[in-house]
Amino acid sequence: MDAIRTRLSAIRRHWVIAVIALVLVVLWIAFGALIGFLPGMVALALFALVVWWVVLEVIAWRARRTGTTTNPRREARTAVIAGVAVALVGFGLMQAVPYGRDRTAPPVTGEPTWSSAATRDLMVRACYQCHSSVVDYPAYANVAPTSWAVQHHIDEARGAVNYSQFATDPGRADDTIEVIRDGSMPPAYFTRFGTNPQANLTDAEKAALIAGLEKTPGMGDQGERGERGERDGD
Ligand code: HEC
Repeated sequence: MDAIRTRLSAIRRHWVIAVIALVLVVLWIAFGALIGFLPGMVALALFALVVWWVVLEVIAWRARRTGTTTNPRREARTAVIAGVAVALVGFGLMQAVPYGRDRTAPPVTGEPTWSSAATRDLMVRACYQCHSSVVDYPAYANVAPTSWAVQHHIDEARGAVNYSQFATDPGRADDTIEVIRDGSMPPAYFTRFGTNPQANLTDAEKAALIAGLEKTPGMGDQGERGERGERDGD
């Protein structure tokens, strides 16, 4: 309790540093929301703040033990250096985490019988970066934490439907036309910041893709509309 009270009064003394730290955390979290990785980025931010706090407690405890007197300027400098160090070391450690580095792809068991090469081409451009066994990892997937976000999306996407395994497991492929029509796929975060522009289909391309998918078995064609209508209702 006492430690918390001292730390809180330190925060009051150095509110400028506290505000800057808060702004950085908010920016970090906003970025997390924009890349579709909000919970992960919130967890990382909280973790970093807790570590920073603990480091400052340890430094204060050692100063008390050795009887070192601190003045506010020194206290502020220590807080900033510790904060930067926690961020840099944390960033380095994140790069060592194996998650997101394992790029072994699940086997290709057979794609849908695409109605035309152009249909497949559009699917590859807009969907295969997540829903296939032939993912071509973007450069930003080499750096954590975006590599974790990318891997997480690919894992989830393959869990929903992997078009490379349609022959053995169609998954939710029967929702394909629907998610393209309602604009929920590809997810907005995928093309934000100008990333993956190839997936930004024009209205004409979207219409051509839907027309092609309507002639591709298993993508949720007219015949299945009644069934899907029921599911939407529940
Ligand atoms: C950035 C990765 C990514 C891209 C690109 C992407 N998806 Fe997805 N997709 C996901 C994720 C993650 C899920 C599972 C979570 C969800 O439903 O939002 C999903 C879910 C789905 C589902 C199941 C949804 C349901 O409610 O049944 C379908 C169908 C789908 N995607 C089709 C597509 C199609 C078609 C494209 C291309 C036009 C596409 N996706 C592009 C990541 C992606």
